[in-house]
Amino acid sequence: MIEFKLNGKTTRFEGPTDTPLLWILRDDLEMTGTKFGCGAAQCGACTVHVNGVAVRSCQTPAASLAGQEVTTIEGLSEAGDHPVQLAWVKLNVPQCGYCQPGQIMQAASLLARNGKPSDADIDLEMSGNICRCGTYPRIRQAIHLAAEMKGGAK
Ligand code: FES
Ligand code: FES
Repeated sequence: MIEFKLNGKTTRFEGPTDTPLLWILRDDLEMTGTKFGCGAAQCGACTVHVNGVAVRSCQTPAASLAGQEVTTIEGLSEAGDHPVQLAWVKLNVPQCGYCQPGQIMQAASLLARNGKPSDADIDLEMSGNICRCGTYPRIRQAIHLAAEMKGGAK
């Protein structure tokens, strides 16, 4: 049995220890905000935080979660008012929306480490998050706006 914190709540998983976190979230816990894209760490749709750092949940086995703190898009903020979420709404970032939970989690992880990222910082951080709708220019703009909302100090 693996015990970890999920969005602040103690959570237990009793299945095979090599089960990827993405499956635990979507199939066991019915938390479908985190998306399946490729299942192979190639798209970023499944991005969540483990101890505040963006990881690909499709490649994160249950065994690695013992005692860790996992945050999903459902737990990023209580009222959907994390600066990244507010900036996304303000600039109408999503098109189809499928990749966006992963984009938001990746962007939030970046801003937690770097309060005023440059375009180059953003491009580097977000390069593994694929958007088939091509919303990249709005994503970059929204990350700058979220940084301003957070106060902009590094
Ligand atoms: S589903 Fe995990 S990176 Fe694509
Ligand atoms: S908004 Fe459609 S894949 Fe990104």
